[in-house]
Amino acid sequence: MKISKKAQSVPASMTLEITAKVKQLKSEGKSIIGFTAGEPNFDTPDYIVNSAKEALDKGITKYTPVAGMPELKVAICNKFEKDNGLIYEPSQIIVSNGAKASLYHAVYALCDDGDEVIIPAPFWFTYEEQVKLCGGVPVIVETKPENEYKITASELENAITDKTVLLMLNSPCNPTGALYTEQELTELAKVCEKHGLAVISDEIYEKLIYGEQKHVSIASISSYMKENTVVINGVSKTYAMTGWRIGYLAAPKQVASAINRVQGHTTSNACSFAQYASITALNGKEDVVESMRKAFDERRKYMMKRLDDLSIKYVEPNGAFYMFVDITPFIGKAYNGNVISGSMDFANFLTECGVAVIPGLPFHADSYVRLSYAVAMEDIEEGFNRIASFISMLK
Ligand SMILES: Cc1ncc(COP(=O)(O)O)c(C=O)c1O
Repeated sequence: MKISKKAQSVPASMTLEITAKVKQLKSEGKSIIGFTAGEPNFDTPDYIVNSAKEALDKGITKYTPVAGMPELKVAICNKFEKDNGLIYEPSQIIVSNGAKASLYHAVYALCDDGDEVIIPAPFWFTYEEQVKLCGGVPVIVETKPENEYKITASELENAITDKTVLLMLNSPCNPTGALYTEQELTELAKVCEKHGLAVISDEIYEKLIYGEQKHVSIASISSYMKENTVVINGVSKTYAMTGWRIGYLAAPKQVASAINRVQGHTTSNACSFAQYASITALNGKEDVVESMRKAFDERRKYMMKRLDDLSIKYVEPNGAFYMFVDITPFIGKAYNGNVISGSMDFANFLTECGVAVIPGLPFHADSYVRLSYAVAMEDIEEGFNRIASFISMLK
């Protein structure tokens, strides 16, 4: 059978491939500590699980409206008002099969063939592939460590051409953990307004923030941004619900209506009883989220200390649950006689020493690797002992 050119051009998800490799090595009896997880290592809280059981008992197992259950859309509107100061009507909300589907449908609705989409690097690799699948042209803008890998207004302006339609923004960011300040967003918003750009703002890690800085949505910066931003969010990371596949977006009315039409021919509604449980999650106990956040923060601090002890540089993350670790000093060194030429080699050789990490290459940062701290503390401790011994073996 012929495989389409579009499908042929899509690479496999490296995170999923590495996760599969780790599983395979474990099943062969090897001891591997995986810093690869893109999901909390906590179970979904009981009260949310019970709510899904209740939905099943009540027979909530049929189609829902394509854009989601009305009660869930109301809960999402309330969340946007409470957390972001953004007032939306339920008709502006679309619930999808995970934030990934929300993102894809939003890009599909906003991007014509040949349209340019600016993606600040390092970035979550799905953005680039989704833009390509939708016929757009990803324009990758390298950001700088001195700006904590956040795109500046002048970097954005320099990347704009008469074909640019969209900026993909991710705060807090996967993989760097960078969190944009209100001032930085205000400056970016001015450039967007000047050039008539729309923004897709992925805020899935909004609730996982450490330190004093607050999360701000670019949609709340000005009336122009409210009218030209699609905000993406979901329950996956905040409530440890990655398998439930519930993401959502808020958009200007005509955009939401276009996305609704697109989704009506792709996935249709998201799972009915997962939607029901998401109402409980969104209306529920914030202390559960807070206790997970605190655990991540503890691990984040521990990992920074271990990296400092090894004199390894990293981007201090203010959000999400990833450490972006600079491996520049190890590139060119050899492990068992094999030269490390970049992040792929580093990650491969480290796996032989019992630790799995995600190479920076697919994030557009080949001198970095990403370590998740959505990992149990005892594994982090042992993982760092192994990293220390791996590094001592490099010549
Ligand atoms: C930045 C970012 N956006 C979106 C998603 C997808 O979330 P979901 O599991 O809800 O599809 C992820 C998952 O890793 C992510 O890292």
